[in-house]
Amino acid sequence: MRVLVTGGAGFIGSHFVRTLIADGYPAFTGADVVVLDAFTYAGRIENLDTVRDSPRLRVERGDIRDPHRVAEVVSGVDLIAHFAAETHVDRSITGAADFVTTNVVGTQVLLQAALDAGVGRFVHVSTDEVYGSIDSGSWPETHPLEPNSPYSAAKAGSDLLARSYHRTHGLDVVVTRCSNNYGPHQFPEKVVPLFVTNLLDGKKVPLYGDGGNVRDWLHVDDHCRGVALAAAKGRSGEVYNIGGGIELSNRELTTRLLAAVGAGEDMVERVPDRKGHDRRYSVDWSKIRDELGYVPRRGFGEGLAETVTWYREHRDWWEPLTV
Ligand SMILES: NC(=O)c1ccc[n+]([C@@H]2O[C@H](COP(=O)([O-])OP(=O)(O)OC[C@H]3O[C@@H](n4cnc5c(N)ncnc54)[C@H](O)[C@@H]3O)[C@@H](O)[C@H]2O)c1
Repeated sequence: MRVLVTGGAGFIGSHFVRTLIADGYPAFTGADVVVLDAFTYAGRIENLDTVRDSPRLRVERGDIRDPHRVAEVVSGVDLIAHFAAETHVDRSITGAADFVTTNVVGTQVLLQAALDAGVGRFVHVSTDEVYGSIDSGSWPETHPLEPNSPYSAAKAGSDLLARSYHRTHGLDVVVTRCSNNYGPHQFPEKVVPLFVTNLLDGKKVPLYGDGGNVRDWLHVDDHCRGVALAAAKGRSGEVYNIGGGIELSNRELTTRLLAAVGAGEDMVERVPDRKGHDRRYSVDWSKIRDELGYVPRRGFGEGLAETVTWYREHRDWWEPLTV
């Protein structure tokens, strides 16, 4: 079995790769792994340091928007786990072009290459942000896509292309939509590592608006296990929400981060809200639980403490990225 992981040098993709190589997903024990990554600012080869010497891992530099490069790398692959994307909402507000070309066009290039090469299964890793914002209750997979940021709109476009390759061409596609992830190796522009690294440096943390925006926080290890379950046992053409972490407002998250680092409320600086800031996300993840036996395993308190410890102990990883 050969698994291609796009974006395998990023935060979540690299966690998936490290776990695959460690045989952490029973269905994929012994699999060979190919990483395809363009190594944008978010792709870090250091994220693969612990597995670089494995004879089962091959790392290929390449852009998913490049059909020739993609066709070379996809040849001989049984399964694609597609994580590569432009992912930071704030960047999509100041410049959306790369979000459209990578997330939409790049995904289409990969889908076509998978079809041409006869790849057995294509897992498209998406986000709960494609559903928009919800004041109460939780989105089932059947909820209409109502994305509000250029990032989520581009992800929604890629979800629909993935669906179309299944419906039109019969490509074996499974889509996952996960809530907000946290954990080690996350680029320090995202809220958890941004706040932790600021506090470790004695700097204030910028809290958007009234701090009332609510997100479901899930450890990256739980997300990746959900993706692996969808890859192994998901029904072709289906969408699976992945969630079940802890729902927190940004204000509550900030309080927990301050406590975990040992800093006071005086380290919080209120800043104007993000444009178009979605108020609340909440996925109904009962489908993946009932069909595939997924349940999150990592408690938030323990996971957050371990994440803070990782950033404390890996200043050499994040310090060059914060200048
Ligand atoms: N971070 C979250 O909370 C979250 C939640 C749900 C879903 N997701 C999805 O999970 C996936 C991974 O997210 P992440 O947080 O690890 O992102 P990330 O920004 O840390 O990593 C993205 C990776 O994709 C690579 N990449 C970007 N453009 C590329 C291109 N054109 N060609 C090849 N490689 C390219 C980057 O180099 C990087 O390694 C994304 O598809 C994202 O939408 C993320």
